[in-house]
Amino acid sequence: TDDLNEAARAILRANDRGGYTVPNGRVYPFQWNWDSAFVAMGFDTFDRDRAWAEIESLFSAQWEDGFVPHIVFWKDDPGYFPGPAVWGTDRTPMTSGITQPPVAATMLRQLWDSAVAAGEADTYRSRAAALFPKLLEWHRWFARNRDPEGRGIVVALHPWETGRDNSPEWDAPGEPIDITNVGDYVRRDTGHLDAKMRPTKLEYDRYLALVQYGRAQGWDHARIAATNPFRVADVGMSMMLLRANRDLLALAEALGRGADAEELRGLIARAEAGIGWLWDEAKGTWCSRDLLTGRHSGFVTSASFLSFYAGVSDPAKDAAMLAHLERIAGRVAHLMPSLDPDDPGFQMIRYWRGPVWAVVNWMIGTGLAEAGHAGSAAKVRQDTLDLIARNGFYEAFSPIDGTGSGGDDFSWTAAIWLAWNA
Ligand code: DGY
Repeated sequence: TDDLNEAARAILRANDRGGYTVPNGRVYPFQWNWDSAFVAMGFDTFDRDRAWAEIESLFSAQWEDGFVPHIVFWKDDPGYFPGPAVWGTDRTPMTSGITQPPVAATMLRQLWDSAVAAGEADTYRSRAAALFPKLLEWHRWFARNRDPEGRGIVVALHPWETGRDNSPEWDAPGEPIDITNVGDYVRRDTGHLDAKMRPTKLEYDRYLALVQYGRAQGWDHARIAATNPFRVADVGMSMMLLRANRDLLALAEALGRGADAEELRGLIARAEAGIGWLWDEAKGTWCSRDLLTGRHSGFVTSASFLSFYAGVSDPAKDAAMLAHLERIAGRVAHLMPSLDPDDPGFQMIRYWRGPVWAVVNWMIGTGLAEAGHAGSAAKVRQDTLDLIARNGFYEAFSPIDGTGSGGDDFSWTAAIWLAWNA
């Protein structure tokens, strides 16, 4: 594993564009929000200063309203579609107009704790203090714009915001999106990768229609939130934000920010009281829910297992999720498939309809360990390390036979290897 540790470090160094890291130089040649956060945790295992710089560069692209974009286009690259001209946000640096799962506060807390453990708190305290208000502003932005009923959940306005782009959770909520005027466009993703690993043409048409919609509203976040044709309470983002608020609270306490800590306790209490809205009693699972119809997706996805990571504990629900985990573990060679393998729509190499993602496994495994489910936690971690050791640092992996799916030499996969192994 010394060799693999070195290979993982080499991937991060090679994908470093000087202060920010690309997920993969060909397929994703810019800075992606949640990728960068996980990447910081990877850098932290061998270059603490560089780890902090990753999060600092992401937050240097924050908008005045607190929003943090899902992509920062530090410089244009013709190898990706849709690029900055399509988004038309008219920002410097150029950015997209949608956000992504809020994991940065959780990663910053990891960085802070590791600096404290290394006796370097004094060196990093001022950097933590400078980042803290930016993270809090982003979390406030979510509360203001993405939680219309004050349930402590996160409403996604684009499948790309969830990070789980083509999850079947977005199929029914995506139907009302009008794709008749999307026009012609040339995808670049399928020029780099086998189309079998990627979303379909119908899905891309919807993605593009939503970009055009946001652009037509001048990327006015409040307005889009009130009128967007796609509005889904995402179980993944909701659980990740609840977790991130707990981590931000720990930072507030460490930095002596009493009033902010009080505010965060309020946000956490709200989510603890409201998140049960995402429990589907009929299917016995956590899942996303369409805000416009009130319908649960009913799908068991890898995001369903993030309740442990969020610190949402309820004996009956936990038991149901652990039973799903056991059942799924009996059906695949490697946990955790992004879609229940017993679902007829399961496809072992198609992006978020089957493949295993190392970052999701890290969150699931971390949550299970914290909740005291040591055996399941160890299996999720070991499966992740085995997949990488046997197949390489791929974007994702088939849960059936481990085949790499998507880009290779992938930054966040390398980061998770380092976080869990180095
Ligand atoms: C892509 O282009 O596939 C990305 O996931 C969008 O964020």
